[in-house]
Amino acid sequence: MEKTKPQQKNKKESTISTKDAISILYYMNMAIKISKIYQSNNINFVRQSKLLFQSIQNALYTEKEATFMLRQNTLFFNGRKLKFGFSNYFLFKFTCEEFEKRDMGLLSFKPGLTQQEITHTILLLSQKPSSENPLQSFLNQANQKGISHVLAEKLPPYEKLENKKEGAKKVFFLGLTHLKEMFEKHNQEEKLPLITTKRLMQAIFNHLSQNESFLYGLTTLKNFDEYTLNHSVNVCILSISLGKRLGLDRNELVDLGISAFFHDLGKLDIPKEILLKPGKLNPQEREEIEKHPYLGAEKLLLREEFSFLPLRAINVAMEHHTRQDHQGYPKYWKKKKVNLYSKIVKITDFFDAITTNRPYRKKNFTREEALGLMMEKSGTEFDPVILKAFTLMMGNYPVGTLVLLDTGEIGIVYETPEDPVLMLRPKVKLITDKKGHKIDGGIIDLKEKKPQSSGYKRSIVKTLDPNKYNVPIQDYFLAEVS
Ligand SMILES: [Fe+2]
Ligand SMILES: [Fe+2]
Repeated sequence: MEKTKPQQKNKKESTISTKDAISILYYMNMAIKISKIYQSNNINFVRQSKLLFQSIQNALYTEKEATFMLRQNTLFFNGRKLKFGFSNYFLFKFTCEEFEKRDMGLLSFKPGLTQQEITHTILLLSQKPSSENPLQSFLNQANQKGISHVLAEKLPPYEKLENKKEGAKKVFFLGLTHLKEMFEKHNQEEKLPLITTKRLMQAIFNHLSQNESFLYGLTTLKNFDEYTLNHSVNVCILSISLGKRLGLDRNELVDLGISAFFHDLGKLDIPKEILLKPGKLNPQEREEIEKHPYLGAEKLLLREEFSFLPLRAINVAMEHHTRQDHQGYPKYWKKKKVNLYSKIVKITDFFDAITTNRPYRKKNFTREEALGLMMEKSGTEFDPVILKAFTLMMGNYPVGTLVLLDTGEIGIVYETPEDPVLMLRPKVKLITDKKGHKIDGGIIDLKEKKPQSSGYKRSIVKTLDPNKYNVPIQDYFLAEVS
């Protein structure tokens, strides 16, 4: 095995179908999985390895190469971008992970390939990659095995780490732009681009799988643009995350995301003077506002282009202000059984709304205060089980919380640990030094311990109110993503 020269530019696009290219990944995935359980002479392994060999041979027959390349979080096969759906997204994730683990940006099979070379390659890929220079050690081992028709190339250095943030940023702003377009078009006769909405959900879902805490961080970008746009994207992101924790499957999560995205569609028909009125609403104005669930559901039901949206989107639009104790609005004659999706959106909607500055609210809540207030309403306003999952998901110190450390430094919670045991030890971006002077500090990990001691270097003493300290949390996230 050897390193390849960079691929030629202006190369003709592959004529091999995406389905066939993805089949190769599927057989590779299966073979690697099986090889981790069974010996290489096991009948299942031999069969998968043969299927993989055959599928690659078919590609080599037509195009003289079968090359997978990873660039900018995208997989290419013989120069053609591979598109993945929900059902095969795991293959994309699996391949990216296998590539990244080995620092590999390209894996190519050449004519002359033998069944034995494939089997050895699979066995090498199923081994734990070496921690130092993983690609080189993979290549060395392949050489020893006499593999000469499988080539690999390094992942370009710029491809690492920052990509995920870039992706998250792109998804978020795409969400805003797309929604804005949708909202601008809503009164015109033009058809709404709902296919894009569905793709966007898919993208949000994909990024959530890789980069959950950073997306939460992006939901602190309040008042960046018109309220309803931000709000809809935030509620969508938080709902998909919460649904994931509750064990919904991929298809259900897309439906939930779409439903959450459109939950306030009815607000587009409420006059702006009422929606943005500072101070208390009079009874007539309140009545107007309280029509938005009904107006949204009606729009989803009657407009033709919404017809392929999940039926539950109508439930969510109608029920997201219905409380657990059946109060709230709209009023029903008898007790109503509320849909699970609506219960989820009820929580994420409330949370996002009270943590955002609004002209009619004297004070907006910090994320921590919001979770506290919501816990007081557990069982009356919110479903207690789902709320518990939500508070756990947001962590004790959710991303975006301003915290004082025992060193005297102040920072912003930047990333929450996945292990619930370490919930109190997130990563924090420092914004002041020990004396309280503003700094553009680095990101520190509260899990770090003092040298030669079991104590931690830094711990959180308490949370602070960003409004009181005049800290524009969103600016820090914007700085990070721009
Ligand atoms: Fe609403
Ligand atoms: Fe809402």
